[in-house]
Amino acid sequence: MAENGVVDNGDTARAGPPPPAKHLPVKYTKIFINNEWHESVSGRKFATFNPASGEKICDVEEGDKPDVDKAVEAARAAFQQGSPWRCLDTSSRGRLLCKWADLIERDRHILATLETLDTGKPFLQSFAIDLEGCIRTLRYYAGWADKIQGKSIPVDGNFVTFTRHEPIGVCGQITPWNFPLLMFVWKVAPALCCGNTVVIKPSEHTPLTALYMGALIKEVPFPPGVVNIIPGYGPTAGAAIACHKDIDKVAFTGSTEVGKSIMEAASKSNLKRVTLELGGKNPFVVFADSDLDLAVDCASQGAFFNQGQCCTAAARIFVEEPVYKEFVRRSVERVKRRVVGNPLDPKTEQGPQINQEQLNKILSLIESGKREGARLECGGCVFGDVGHYIQPTVFSEVTDSMRIAKEEIFGPVQVIMKFKSTEEVIRRANNSEFGLTAGVFTKNLDKAMTVSSSLQSGTVWINCYNALHVQAPFGGFKMSGSGREMGEYGLNEYTEVKTVTIKLSQKC
Ligand code: NAI
Ligand code: MG
Repeated sequence: MAENGVVDNGDTARAGPPPPAKHLPVKYTKIFINNEWHESVSGRKFATFNPASGEKICDVEEGDKPDVDKAVEAARAAFQQGSPWRCLDTSSRGRLLCKWADLIERDRHILATLETLDTGKPFLQSFAIDLEGCIRTLRYYAGWADKIQGKSIPVDGNFVTFTRHEPIGVCGQITPWNFPLLMFVWKVAPALCCGNTVVIKPSEHTPLTALYMGALIKEVPFPPGVVNIIPGYGPTAGAAIACHKDIDKVAFTGSTEVGKSIMEAASKSNLKRVTLELGGKNPFVVFADSDLDLAVDCASQGAFFNQGQCCTAAARIFVEEPVYKEFVRRSVERVKRRVVGNPLDPKTEQGPQINQEQLNKILSLIESGKREGARLECGGCVFGDVGHYIQPTVFSEVTDSMRIAKEEIFGPVQVIMKFKSTEEVIRRANNSEFGLTAGVFTKNLDKAMTVSSSLQSGTVWINCYNALHVQAPFGGFKMSGSGREMGEYGLNEYTEVKTVTIKLSQKC
């Protein structure tokens, strides 16, 4: 973990990455089924854009229900008893995941460049954080492939009973645009580790790196049909996955609204298993006795990382009254130093928002903050005249009833509030329909433990923020989702438990 407790950049980041790839041709734009590239059944394509310039990068084949059907057929065939995938030793499964990690490492700067072109996130972030996360996730789950064990259970009577953790089957997976590569790997790695097959749909805003992954999956090679990738829109290709009768499980990361529709479609079709990773409005609590520089640093990183487009964003910063003014002053000072600009430039800390729709949503929330009486300390407007940029923005004097204190902004906006007592801040922090992450800053261990156990959040970071680790589970309480990703807990979401009971002639 980095010294300031913010995020783990990995060894390569410290060594310094190579510059972004020059003259990058986009090689993979088709639908990936059975380790082959397909045109869409409808003949339609859609464009993907560079958010930094607003220019089209290329056209991509537009998958829809018939393409999803083809992919599910391939994934089902790959999952049949006796198929090469089902017959593979578990240790060999692990080796395939390792090989995939090695290929990502080989092509790391190409993938990081492509991710930056398609999302607008700074190249250094793509390279050092997103790609590092992909590689570590694959290596971690590679290690688990031959260690997924059941239990022997001492039941009553003349029986021997044990459990097997079996793969669920064909897994449908739907990923968002804020971390396209990382979410692809977070979804696919544990699914394959447990022996499932996959039909995955990347976001229509950012399909390119997922398709590049198709080429690497073929190169490993995973057997045909084990991973199938369908670029396309949510209400068409995405919905076809959610309601498909021959998909056994669906995993989704994205908006709460769509998450609800996924659960509904799953229940109306075949009661497929569902895991959801949805929104957040995460509290970040700073007590007066905390290391203020550390708290300011982590709060700023928590609010602005990835242009604020994070489900883990530090979205409601509660600061204890005695240090409130100073916290705001230092936060504003820090934000004014933030370098906004071309994401391919290594000095850039903040790139553009993903698209005009998101930009408009963020601007309208900023306007609501001004209207409802919050104090705009800095920023608040678009930045430049090309691309979807917003100035890093700080609001102080925010109260709980304002929209910026209640709704997920998903943009570079820091919202700072004041509190007076521990009881009060716990109550206010929990007063949200979400419960994904939280931060607590104090040097008092008792206080840290009291507050962290009272917070209704899937993750609590104490004196650090966004300290995500592949070994630790991640997921939400309340409307932030259901189920857990990563770590050993993440395996539960990709296995069914089978109880096997054998009758014996005598007790043994
Ligand atoms: P979204 O939820 O529409 O998109 C996420 C994924 O769901 C994409 O792959 C999309 O194609 C798919 N999708 C959309 N409608 C679908 C449907 N009816 N059935 C199946 N799949 C569907 O997110 P959107 O509209 O791009 O962003 C809206 C808001 O959602 C953001 O402002 C942010 O608040 C939140 N969000 C949260 C994310 C997270 O990491 N939890 C990621 C992206 C967005
Ligand atoms: Mg949408």
